[in-house]
Amino acid sequence: MAIGVSVPPGGNWKNVPHHIPSKRLESIRASYAAGSGSRSTYYGRLHPDFPAYTINTYFNRPGNGCHLHYDFEGGQHRVLSEREAARLQSFPDSFVFHGNHGSIQKQIGNAVPPLLAYQIAGQLPHTGAYVDLFSGAGGFALGFKWAGWTPIVANDIDPSFLKTYASNIHSNTIVGDIRDKSVFKRLVEAVKDSRKADEPLFVLGGPPCQGFSTAGNRRTQDDERNHLFNEYRAFVSAVKPDGFVFENVPGLLNMEGGAVFQHIHRRLVTPGRSLTKWLLRSEEYGIPQRRTRLILLSTPKRWGTLESPGKGTELLKRDDIPLSLPNAISVKEALSDLPALSQGQDGSGLGYCSEPLTNYQRLMRGLISPADYLALLRQQELVEND
Ligand SMILES: C[S@@+](CC[C@H](N)C(=O)[O-])C[C@H]1O[C@@H](n2cnc3c(N)ncnc32)[C@H](O)[C@@H]1O
Repeated sequence: MAIGVSVPPGGNWKNVPHHIPSKRLESIRASYAAGSGSRSTYYGRLHPDFPAYTINTYFNRPGNGCHLHYDFEGGQHRVLSEREAARLQSFPDSFVFHGNHGSIQKQIGNAVPPLLAYQIAGQLPHTGAYVDLFSGAGGFALGFKWAGWTPIVANDIDPSFLKTYASNIHSNTIVGDIRDKSVFKRLVEAVKDSRKADEPLFVLGGPPCQGFSTAGNRRTQDDERNHLFNEYRAFVSAVKPDGFVFENVPGLLNMEGGAVFQHIHRRLVTPGRSLTKWLLRSEEYGIPQRRTRLILLSTPKRWGTLESPGKGTELLKRDDIPLSLPNAISVKEALSDLPALSQGQDGSGLGYCSEPLTNYQRLMRGLISPADYLALLRQQELVEND
């Protein structure tokens, strides 16, 4: 890959010489010159000593983010493989994705890192059962399952996402558009059938809110994505769970100068429940990736005030990283036991190239549990601080 050869670790499109022909580069240069953003991650190469940038759904395209493998000296002038991207999202190596490559890339890039979800679940004083809406492949769901919660039913519009979900989380899935009345009804019934009186029931999931608008005109009211939030709320009203964990992108806070978030927040407040807001940066929670997620938790008032996760992992400050990235696990620490690949090689069927070299690699191989991993991170930091 001619472009990749010119980008060093931590570099980006600015390192690519002008004589290399590329329409994509020309358009990036033009928009940069016009002052519309630095596009600083485009054609980016991961730095071995830092966490990755946010893994998006286009990690197979060098021109859409920082997706070049960190091993410049080893000649790996290629984008991340699916297996590597899944690891940077904290999906363990045993997690099997179904569908074509485009679908798998979406499943990986859309997910909440399971290890982040696990730490969110760990702040709840009880375990229980959960319904997973907008479930995708099940990143959010896996974290709750690791934490001892029981999945009862999941819904997504995409059949291959749910095939992945069913083979890794739980077989009871309902494929279809949640706006479809029969899908909605089947979901409510599935909850009624499985709900146990003595077990808390939670709804997990985040409706995509990208098109959301509070403006009252017909065009915005008709935007189909507005309805996804409304369906979410209608579902919560229909099943009356003990609580929910609403997850979304942090950009939700800035839409319409904050008016969208205020609107959503107001409509999620329920009598007898507390609504807690957290903005969580994955890189602060032992995950080798900069990915921030907005979380709203509705919990029974009798459960008391919820602390955000991280009191322990705040200890993990690393002075050797010249950025404000406490707790950061680097991409090399995450990936260095995976084999070298050439451009376009999938690599999912290959073995490892070494013994696990870090605790993160042990976690990914299922040799230690998430609880052990987090405990080891804390211990390691205590030793480093002695
Ligand atoms: C951000 S992803 C969810 C990721 C998931 N929480 C995870 O951690 O893996 C949002 C999901 O909403 C689903 N979705 C979008 N519109 C939908 C609809 N109308 N009905 C049901 N699911 C929908 C998408 O297919 C996508 O999988």
